[in-house]
Amino acid sequence: MTVALVTGASAGIGEATAIRLSREPGTELVLVARREEKLRELAGSLPCRATVLAADLTDEDAPARVRAHLEAEHGGRLDLLVNNAGAAWRGSFGEAGYANLRRHMELNLDAVARLTEALLPLLRASAPSAIVNVASTAGRVARAGTGAYSASKFALVGWTDALYAEEKPHGVHVGMVLPGFVQTEGFPATELREKALTRWIVSKPDRVAEAIYEVGPGGKPERYVPRAYALAAVARILFPRLVRRVLTGGPAKSLTTRTAAETR
Ligand SMILES: NC(=O)c1ccc[n+]([C@@H]2O[C@H](COP(=O)([O-])OP(=O)(O)OC[C@H]3O[C@@H](n4cnc5c(N)ncnc54)[C@H](OP(=O)(O)O)[C@@H]3O)[C@@H](O)[C@H]2O)c1
Repeated sequence: MTVALVTGASAGIGEATAIRLSREPGTELVLVARREEKLRELAGSLPCRATVLAADLTDEDAPARVRAHLEAEHGGRLDLLVNNAGAAWRGSFGEAGYANLRRHMELNLDAVARLTEALLPLLRASAPSAIVNVASTAGRVARAGTGAYSASKFALVGWTDALYAEEKPHGVHVGMVLPGFVQTEGFPATELREKALTRWIVSKPDRVAEAIYEVGPGGKPERYVPRAYALAAVARILFPRLVRRVLTGGPAKSLTTRTAAETR
């Protein structure tokens, strides 16, 4: 029996990940997000036992509630934690300011670290176990208008690398997935999909779900989705002037796409 918890399971990459993991024999799932009805609908459609917990992960008591749920419903066992819930709100620092940076950090970094802190004792007790943090290629290369999102994902990437080394002796494998543009409810990438020139760079949630499986149960340290996005990270290190020039030019603006969070 394997107990896997997926945050942000009510939509997009998290939902695809729950579906992917449910295909593995002996899996029990814990689905976490704010919209309970979406989670219940998904749980009812899966071929394995799946419990749901509606929680806003930025709430003070969310980590303790998730841990209590695991203890009450799954005997305190946790083999895989997928820290996937996240969001983005566009805005330059000059316009959106520190408030925008802060809300990204609260959800994309602080909530992940707080949940991981609460669940680490269960993961260690269930070792060998794994954590997969869903970062982003934006956690390696930053663009104008998404600096706050990038800052939160850069921080997540750095923290994940350290946690990988720290938890290895405890039998908890820590890896990350760095998606590029993926069409989801939260990141529809409409502007890119509308144009033949850019349509091909938009990927699908089930490809990220497969990568999450390779990193978690599969034991890989990191995976870009699609893999070619790793070139952007390499270019940022080897050719920083070139990358800066490209990302400062007018055409780069089309890479800063609308998100669902900013329209809510
Ligand atoms: N799609 C992309 O292009 C892309 C690229 C790189 C990285 N990523 C990362 O991939 C992850 C998943 O994104 P996605 O594209 O699947 O987005 P999505 O379709 O908007 O899904 C986000 C999920 O997170 C949950 N969530 C948001 N805020 C929450 C909160 N405060 N508390 C609990 N759950 C919350 C949402 O559920 P509720 O609304 O029900 O709470 C939803 O299930 C994010 O970390 C994102 O940064 C996405």
